[in-house]
Amino acid sequence: MCGIIGIISQNDVSERLLDGLKRLEYRGYDSAGIATLAADGEIDRRRAEGKLEKLADVLATRPLAGVIGIGHTRWATHGGITKNNAHPMANDTVAVVHNGIIENFASLKEMLQQRGAVFTSDTDTEVVMHLVSMHMQEGLTPLEAVQKTLSQVRGAFALAFLFKAQPHMLIAARRGSPLVLGITESELFIGSDAIALAPWVRTLCYLEEGDVATLTLHGDNAEVSILNEDGIAVERPLRQTNITADAISKGAFTHYMLKEIFEQPLTVSDTLQSLISVEDESFHAPLLALNKPFSKIRIIACGTSYYAGLVAKYWFEKLARVHVDVEIASEFRYRSPVFDGDTLNFFITQSGETIDTLAALTLVKQQGETCVAIVNVAESSIARASDHVIQTMAGPEIGVASTKAFTAQLVVLAALCLKFAKERNAISPHEWTNFFQSIAQIPGHISELLRNDGVYHQLAAHLCQVHHTLYLGRGANFPIALEGALKLKEISYIHAEGYPAGELKHGPIALIDSKMPVIVIAPHDEWFEKTLSNVQEVLARCAQVIVFTDAKGAAAIEAQTKTMPCYRIVILPESNMLTAPLLYTISIQLLAYYTAHMKGTDVDQPRNLAKSVTVE
Ligand code: G6P
Repeated sequence: MCGIIGIISQNDVSERLLDGLKRLEYRGYDSAGIATLAADGEIDRRRAEGKLEKLADVLATRPLAGVIGIGHTRWATHGGITKNNAHPMANDTVAVVHNGIIENFASLKEMLQQRGAVFTSDTDTEVVMHLVSMHMQEGLTPLEAVQKTLSQVRGAFALAFLFKAQPHMLIAARRGSPLVLGITESELFIGSDAIALAPWVRTLCYLEEGDVATLTLHGDNAEVSILNEDGIAVERPLRQTNITADAISKGAFTHYMLKEIFEQPLTVSDTLQSLISVEDESFHAPLLALNKPFSKIRIIACGTSYYAGLVAKYWFEKLARVHVDVEIASEFRYRSPVFDGDTLNFFITQSGETIDTLAALTLVKQQGETCVAIVNVAESSIARASDHVIQTMAGPEIGVASTKAFTAQLVVLAALCLKFAKERNAISPHEWTNFFQSIAQIPGHISELLRNDGVYHQLAAHLCQVHHTLYLGRGANFPIALEGALKLKEISYIHAEGYPAGELKHGPIALIDSKMPVIVIAPHDEWFEKTLSNVQEVLARCAQVIVFTDAKGAAAIEAQTKTMPCYRIVILPESNMLTAPLLYTISIQLLAYYTAHMKGTDVDQPRNLAKSVTVE
């Protein structure tokens, strides 16, 4: 939540600060602002409530000069969505931008007010600004003032500072929230992630927990020095990034989300190829490295990534015969979980920065159990804190609603399932080969599905008029029903619930009337007959039933529902237990996307949400 950027250059920086913030807007879009040191040596800033385009309008009428500056895009935590609460917070000594939460801000604020500080916002961030300037007035250098401030504040955060008295220097500090430095021979950058800096730098330096970095540029002499949490000078490795501006452009698509949905044949194929070799039915290094014995599996995640974990539970238990617990990270970390030291833990996360997943990882690590990250952002905090990393090859995902990262996670989990099934001799060699070969065909089946996306336009034209929907599924497709409901509600604001079809009679059936669309995920699998009975039950109550199934399923449904036909049956390619969740997910993504688009919502930046949840 919240995106931070900073630049020191020999040219004006405000345009690039704004440009970098555009790529960080997925982290929050309640307000935005930038501050620079103007030619007269004063800190000058522009801020605007609302999305970044509002700030761009302000800058168009009141440009901001200066070769050094910081910027911020906000997801509000403390203090309402107002211009006054927009970052940077600044006085005539220092400007600061902040991602995260200062947990003890209330007591610090009281202390500062008693000493005469006048607050102009309701944010927790403003205490940082007052503390730093107070310490500088006491005679400390900017770096010492930042260090002293950091010793007084509690919480998880990232900060970037600009000082009036230091026209060539920025300071960046990391505790709990990510920060990366970008380094060229003549310019220096700070960003919440590598994507923000993509067009300008290839050399990156990720700050570690507790690091405070000083960035200085004198003429062509760019220097970075880093102190660790004990105040000791440290070197952090320099990494080369290959993220290009192209990878993060929308191309010809109306939204990032649609582009990302249509990228899935490629991202699924890339992820598969990084893990398995189809020709000789073998596994590649990221999976082979996982060779420690274990008695059970625990999967911990949030949001859509949690649903990927739920799918894996069905797969691992059925095909590999291994016990699996799937945990919501924010619950797990505050329960009193029992550890046996013999559990293999997977942390599934697109961003690798979700605060609850990271905290759960820390907890499990303390217990000495093996931690494996299934993560899309290779340099993320969760990747770096894990014992093993399996990277999903989805590429940068910008749309707030996760799509291609989810299917890439499913691919990793399917490959892991096959590995475990083989190691445990849990299924016959013939079955194993069939499953192995079938996942290799998935990219082609996804392409086929995407070629026929007209049907989703038609369904969306209907769905965009309703207020409630119900998604039903069974087995490994029950989590896809949950994901379908989540996708629809988060981007179209239509209330949607996902249910295991068998649970329908225990409550949700009371909601059904002729205005309620019921979306059923029903490949012709071992649970199909039972799901079909549930379809009959809702049809009998006049619901508008939309069924996603395959040719066999469609024939059976049509035969049985002649007198009370379904509203629509959508036929997908044939699938099996491993491939169905991957395929049916594409359908529910398209349905949600086109529905939201027709409703005219802001698909890529739905209200109140942020892509990377770095606060509790
Ligand atoms: C947010 C995003 C979701 C994502 C969830 C978990 O809620 O909007 O798309 O599934 O966080 O994020 P992670 O990066 O850990 O997968």
